[in-house]
Amino acid sequence: MIKVLFVCLGNICRSPLAEAIFLDEIEKRDLDSRLSADSAGTAGYHIGDLPDSRSRENAQRNGVTIAHRARQFHSDDFEEFDYILAMDHSNYRHIAGMAERLDLKADHLHLMRSFQVDGAQQEVPDPYYGGSQGFQQVFDILLDANQRFIDYLVKTHQL
Ligand code: 4NP
Repeated sequence: MIKVLFVCLGNICRSPLAEAIFLDEIEKRDLDSRLSADSAGTAGYHIGDLPDSRSRENAQRNGVTIAHRARQFHSDDFEEFDYILAMDHSNYRHIAGMAERLDLKADHLHLMRSFQVDGAQQEVPDPYYGGSQGFQQVFDILLDANQRFIDYLVKTHQL
């Protein structure tokens, strides 16, 4: 089983949505026996919370159900997961810094959008403080990034 962890700041907007879209896509492609996913936040503000209601409602409108309770990223996650995908540069730096302090390798840490054709250094914007259109924009980005990422996994691991 290849295990993927999606990481953002609060684990209530972007990363639970990334996880839900990923799970939906792998089910459609019949890859759910080979791949699994979870999500976490670098911060601990929302531990135990359901995802933001705006994120859940928007996902539902797009046919995706989010079922997750927020948790904080933990040092054990470096070993537990095969891929760690950070939503933005700040999340990436946080995780990379933690690995450095713990003297752990973080070769499996990537920026989520690095799998998109033109996404290389781009971030998944944080919709938390914005309007409802921000949630659809994030959904569209995460759908494309996940499709590219799954294509990459299929190719790399011959799934
Ligand atoms: P997320 O969005 O990182 O996509 O879950 C946020 C949610 C909550 C906060 C920040 C970002 N917050 O500061 O509470």
